[in-house]
Amino acid sequence: MKKNREHWASSFGFIMAAAGSAIGLGTLWQFPYMTSVNGGGLFVLLFLLFTVLIGIPIFIAELLLGRKAQRGAVGIFENLENNSSQWKGVGWLSVLSALLILSYYCVVAGWGLNYVLLSFNQFYVGKTPEEISNVFQILFKSPGITILWQISFLILTGGVVYKGVRDGIEHWSKILTSSLLVILLILLGYSLTLDGFSKAVHYIFYPDLTKLKPSGVLEALGLAFFTLSLGQGVMLTYGSYMGKNENIPKTTCIVASMNIVVSVLAALMIFPIIFTFGSEPVAGFGLVFETLPVLFARLPGALILSTSFFVLLVFTALTSSVALLEVIVANFVDLFSWKRKKAVIVACLAIFIIGIPSALTGSNIIFPNWEIMYGKTFFQTVVDIVSQWILPFIGLFVSIFAGWKVNKKLIQEEFIMGTSWKKLFGIWYFFTKWLAPLAIIAIIMQRAGFIDLDKLFK
Ligand code: PHE
Repeated sequence: MKKNREHWASSFGFIMAAAGSAIGLGTLWQFPYMTSVNGGGLFVLLFLLFTVLIGIPIFIAELLLGRKAQRGAVGIFENLENNSSQWKGVGWLSVLSALLILSYYCVVAGWGLNYVLLSFNQFYVGKTPEEISNVFQILFKSPGITILWQISFLILTGGVVYKGVRDGIEHWSKILTSSLLVILLILLGYSLTLDGFSKAVHYIFYPDLTKLKPSGVLEALGLAFFTLSLGQGVMLTYGSYMGKNENIPKTTCIVASMNIVVSVLAALMIFPIIFTFGSEPVAGFGLVFETLPVLFARLPGALILSTSFFVLLVFTALTSSVALLEVIVANFVDLFSWKRKKAVIVACLAIFIIGIPSALTGSNIIFPNWEIMYGKTFFQTVVDIVSQWILPFIGLFVSIFAGWKVNKKLIQEEFIMGTSWKKLFGIWYFFTKWLAPLAIIAIIMQRAGFIDLDKLFK
C-alpha cells in the first residue's frame, strides 16, 4: 500500500517555504546589478510585468500539476501522461538541474558562512581596503577551506530536508524567511540614513532609455523566471505537498509580490552603501565578497552590519538550497521507495562530488586547462548551462504540458479547487498555452543566436 503523502501544515508555512525558495542569491545580487546595467526604472517595470504575465501563470501551472499528481517531478509527468518516457525525461532533467545548481550554490553559500565567521572576528580591523578585499582571493584559492565550508553548508541543507516536509522544510522556512525579512528591513533602515540613499533611489528607479537594449527585455524575463524558482521542479514538488483546499492562484500572487518587494528592497539596501563611498556597482560575487566588506569596515557598527549581512545571505541561500534538494529527494523517495534518510545522504554525496571542480575553480587543481579550452571557468560553465539553457527549456516544457498536453477539463478542475478566483481560469489558460511558450521560445532563440533583438530594433 502507498504511504500517505506528507502535506504542508498551513498555508502560511507553504508561503514562507515558497517565498524562501524564490528569494535567494539571485534576488539579492542579480536583480540589483541587472537593474543598474539595464538603465533602472524601465527594467524594474519590465521585471514586474513579466513576473505578472509569464511568471505567475507558470508558477500556478507548476503548483497545479504537482498537486494533481501528488508525486515528485518525474512522477508528475509519468502520472499525468500515461508513463510517456519523453515527458518523464523532463522530470529527470529537473532533477539534473537541481543537482547542478546545488553543486555551485553550496560553494557560494559556503563562502557566505565563512564570511559570517570572518565578520564576527572583525577580520577587517587594521587592514587596508586592498587587504580586506584580497581576503576573498585567498579564500578562492584555498581548496581546503572552501571545501570545509561547502560541506558545512551541505550538511545544514541536508539536515533540514532530512527532517521532512513539515518538521524540516516548513518549520525552518518559517523561521529563516521571517528572520531574513527582519534583517533586510533593519539593514534597509540603516541604508536610509546614508548619504548615498537618494542617489541610489534615482539610479534604481529613474528610467534611462539609452541604457536599456532590446535584449534587456528578454533579460528581464529570464530574471523573473529564475528568481521565482521556475523551471527547476521546485514548485512542481512543493505543489505535490499541497492539500486540495489550498487557494493556488492567491498564494501564488502573495509569493510573487513578496519576491518583487524583496528584490527592490535589496537593491535599496545595497546601492546606498556603494554610492556613499563613491564606488561603482560591480557584477557578481566581487560585489558581495570584495566590495561590500571594504565598505562595511568604514561604516559605524561594522561588526553588526557585516555579520547580519552575511547571515542574511546564508539564510536566503539556505531556504533556496533546501527547495532544490527536496526536488531530488522527493523523486528518490517516490520512484525507488527509498527512506528519506538514504535519499538525502545519496543526494548530498552526489552534490558534493559534482561540486568539487566548482569549489576548486580558484585553486585550479582539477581541470587546470578548462578555462583555456572553454573560455570560462568550470564554475561559470555550469552556471551558464543551467541558467541559460536547462531552465528555459524545462519552463517551456511545463507550459506546453499544462497548456497543450494535459486534458483541459482535468486542469480546470484542479484550478478551481480551493479558490474563489474561478473566473480567472480562462485568462490563466490562455497565458500558459500561448504567451508563456512564445516568450520562452524568444529567449531561447536570442540565446542561440537565431535572432538578435538589438539588431532587429536598431
Ligand atoms: N530563486 C532563487 C534566487 O533568486 C534561485 C533558485 C533557483 C532557488 C532554483 C531555488 C531553485 O536566487
